[in-house]
Amino acid sequence: MMKVAIGCDHGGFELKEQVVKHLADQGYELTDVGCNSLDSVDYPVYAKKVCDLVNNGDVELGILICGTGIGMSMAANKIKGIRAALLSDCFSAEKTREHNNANVMCLGGRVIGPELAFRIVDTFLTTPFSNAERHQRRVNMLEG
Ligand code: RB5
Repeated sequence: MMKVAIGCDHGGFELKEQVVKHLADQGYELTDVGCNSLDSVDYPVYAKKVCDLVNNGDVELGILICGTGIGMSMAANKIKGIRAALLSDCFSAEKTREHNNANVMCLGGRVIGPELAFRIVDTFLTTPFSNAERHQRRVNMLEG
């Protein structure tokens, strides 16, 4: 089963716990890098942990959750090799895998509810990159 890393800060902790259960129930091999409580922590620390696992090939895809998802997406997209998408709908989840080959997705735990989050996560994890030449060319250009 696909290996996935997940991380959060205190703003994303409650949704992270729900997403972990949702994915574990489906058999995904999850690496949960924390955090593990509502105590205040710094989101860039957890973004780095998940992105390192993605870049090392330890997992195929990563999920990051903070209050808005914005801080996590900013932190993740600063890391070479990471293409992080902040998601709040299923269409974008599908397209960012097909077109951008996004390897990390970010959610706002204070923005969306768990049922929508589950659908977005499921879409992201099950949609392949299209491999079309134009999309690969554009993704290559992101690395500069
Ligand atoms: C924490 O209060 C909050 O700033 C953080 O979870 C996130 O929303 C940052 O982008």
